[in-house]
Amino acid sequence: MGSSAFALVLALALVACVTPAERKCQLSGLWRNEQDSLMEISAVRGDGDFQGKYLTQVTLTGGCARVSPLKGAQQQPGEGGWPTFAFTVRWDKFSNATTAFAGQCFVDAGGKETLTTMWLLREAVGSLEEDWKATRVGRNIFTRKHTPKGKILPSLSPSCEDTALPAP
Ligand code: BTN
Repeated sequence: MGSSAFALVLALALVACVTPAERKCQLSGLWRNEQDSLMEISAVRGDGDFQGKYLTQVTLTGGCARVSPLKGAQQQPGEGGWPTFAFTVRWDKFSNATTAFAGQCFVDAGGKETLTTMWLLREAVGSLEEDWKATRVGRNIFTRKHTPKGKILPSLSPSCEDTALPAP
C-alpha cells in the first residue's frame, strides 16, 4: 500500500473512532460573539477554575472599551455531556459595571464549538431608589475564533488610544 493510501485509511479509521461523546468541549482559546466582542480564556485548571480577558464591542455609554479581566469556573463534564460554566467580567478599566455570564459548551457533528450564554449586566446606581433599573439581561452566543499562531486578544484589537488617533 502506498504512503498516501495508508494515510487515508488511517485518517478514516480515526474519524470513525471519534464518537460525538468524545468531542470534548475546550473552553480555553479565543471566542467571538454575535456582537463582535472577543474573549480569550486561558487554560482551565484541574478544579475547573479559569481566567481570561474580554474585549466588548458595545458599551453602556457608547464609549471606548478596554480589555477587561474575566474569572470563571467550569463544571466537570459528565459522561457524554457538555459542561456548564459561569464567569464574571469586571469592566474596571472604563466602567463601574460588572457582568455575570452562565452557559454551556456544545460541539456539533462537524466539530464546531458553540458557547450559549445568558448574562446579567449590573451597573452602579447612586441610590436604593434607582436599584430597579440597574440590571440588564441578555443572551450571547460565542464561536471559536481561529487565528494565526501566536495571535492573542490584545494583538488583535487596538487599544482605545490607538483607535482615537486621527489618521495621518
Ligand atoms: C459598560 O458598558 O459599562 C460595560 C460593558 C458591558 C458589555 C456588555 S456585557 C453583555 C454584552 N455582551 C457583550 O459582549 N457586551 C455586552
